[in-house]
Amino acid sequence: MIKLSDGRNLPLDMHKVKVVQRLPFPLIEQRLAAIREGGFNTFMLRTRDMFLDMLTDSGTNAQSDAQLAASMESDDAYAGSESFFKMVDAVQDVFGYNYVLPAHQGRAAEHLIAKGLVKPGDVIPMNQHFTTTKAHLVLAGATVEEICTDEGYNPDSGCLFKGNMDIDKLNQVIARHGADKIPFIRMESTANLLGGQPFSMANLKEVRAIADKHKIPLLVDTSLITDNAYMIKHREAGYEKCSVAEIIKEIGSIADIIYMSGRKSTTSRAGLITMREKKIYDQLAPLVPVYEGFLTYGGISTREIESMAVGLREMTEENCAGCAVELIEYFVSRLIDKGIPVVKPAGGVGAHIDALRFLPHLDHQQYPAGALAAAIFICSGVRGMERGTVSMDRDVDGTELISELELVRLAVPRRAFTMSHIEYVVDRVAWLYKHREMIGGLAWENEPKMLRFFIGRLKPIAAGQASANWDEELAQAFIHDFSRNM
Ligand code: F0G
Repeated sequence: MIKLSDGRNLPLDMHKVKVVQRLPFPLIEQRLAAIREGGFNTFMLRTRDMFLDMLTDSGTNAQSDAQLAASMESDDAYAGSESFFKMVDAVQDVFGYNYVLPAHQGRAAEHLIAKGLVKPGDVIPMNQHFTTTKAHLVLAGATVEEICTDEGYNPDSGCLFKGNMDIDKLNQVIARHGADKIPFIRMESTANLLGGQPFSMANLKEVRAIADKHKIPLLVDTSLITDNAYMIKHREAGYEKCSVAEIIKEIGSIADIIYMSGRKSTTSRAGLITMREKKIYDQLAPLVPVYEGFLTYGGISTREIESMAVGLREMTEENCAGCAVELIEYFVSRLIDKGIPVVKPAGGVGAHIDALRFLPHLDHQQYPAGALAAAIFICSGVRGMERGTVSMDRDVDGTELISELELVRLAVPRRAFTMSHIEYVVDRVAWLYKHREMIGGLAWENEPKMLRFFIGRLKPIAAGQASANWDEELAQAFIHDFSRNM
C-alpha cells in the first residue's frame, strides 16, 4: 500500500503487464442462457460465456517472467530430475525442511497424507476444514473437528485473526478422544472457508505447545501461506519488522509437516509435502509412485516443478506476498462503501460477500450463497464461487449439514486483474444489492453425494417476494437499466 497525498491508501502494482489475454464481454442474454445451461452452478460455466473469472485463484494467478524462463530449462528425466532438486533447495530455504515429496496438487497431497497417516476412527482437529481435505479424511474413515474461535464465524467481527484455533476446544477434543486417536492437528493458513482469514503466530505457538504436551504432530496446510504471513507482518505486534520470508520460516520451525497446493501461493500447478522427520517421510514416500508418479516428479510436469522452485522464493518477497492482499483490501473497502455486507476484515483469496445478510429472505436450505453467485453472474458476467451450504456435503444419514457461513467468494488471482476490473464488479454488485429482493432461492435438480458443489445442478425457486422465475425477471430489470445489456 502506498499513502496518497489525500490520505487514501492505494494498492500499488509492483509489476507490469507483459503478456495479455483478451476477454470476451458476453451480453446478459448469453449470460442468462449460460447459467441455466450450467444448472445455476458457476463451476459448470464455460469461460467464453463470462467476462471476469473470479471463481478461484487456484492455477489462475499470473506467473512471473522468471518462472516462465525457469520452466524452459526443465529436466524431463523420469527419475532423478534436476528440476526436482531445485524445488527441494527452495523448500529447504523457505521452510527449513529437508524431506520433500511432490504431489500433483494440494488434494493429491491430502490423499497421500490421509492414506499414510490416518486410520478409521481417527479424529483430526483443525481450525477449519477445506472441502477436499475433509473429503480425503472422511474417505480414510476419520472425522473432522472444526474448532476455530467463535469470531471465525462472525463475518462482521473486526477480529484480525479469525483463523485462530480455539485452544480450550482443542484441549476438550484431545480429552474426549485421547491423543492416540489424533494422528495430527491441522492448521490451515489463511483459512479459506472462513473468508481467507489468517491465524496468528501466537496462536500457532499455543497449538504447538499443546501438540508437544500430547506428542501429537502439527501439520500446517500452507497453500495460502504467503497471504497469512503478510497479514501477520501487518497485524501482529512484534512482527512488523520481520520479513515475510522470516515469518514463513518461523511457521516452518513450529510445524512438523507442511503440505501445500502450489496453485495459489507459488502460482504453479503443483503441490508438495515436506516434513522435519525421516520417519514420516518413510511412511509417505512409498505411496508417491503408486498414486502420483516417481519420487522426483509426482505427477507434476517438470516445467511446473521449475516454476514452483522459483515461485516458492518469489512468494516470500514482500511485493509479491502483498499484492493480492492489498487489492482485496481495496475491493472490500469499496464494497463496504456501497453498504454491501462482506466478511470483515478483508483477508486473502478474494472478497467474500455475506449472502445471509445480502439475502435475509432466504434460509440456508434455499442456498443463498449459490443464488447470489448465480445472480452476480447474470448481472455482471463475473464468475464467483458459492462457499456455504452447497459446498458442504450431507451427513452419512442424508441430513443437510448447514454451513455457519454463506459466502460468495469473488477471488482475486494474483497479478491478473486491475483496478478497473474491481470497480466494475463493485458497481454491478451494488446494483444487484438495490434489487436484492428480486433474488429467489435454489433447489437441487441433480445432487451428487460427494463434493456436490463441483458438478451438481440446481434450479431457481421462489422465496420472499421473488418468483420461481427470478433469473428472468432480474435480467429484465437489468436490461431496463443498462441500455447496452452489458
Ligand atoms: N487447501 C487449501 C487451503 C485450499 O485452498 C485448496 C484449494 C486445497 C487445499 C486443495 O488444493 O486445489 O491444489 O487440490 N483451493 C482452491 C480454491 C481449489 O478455489 O480455493 P488443490
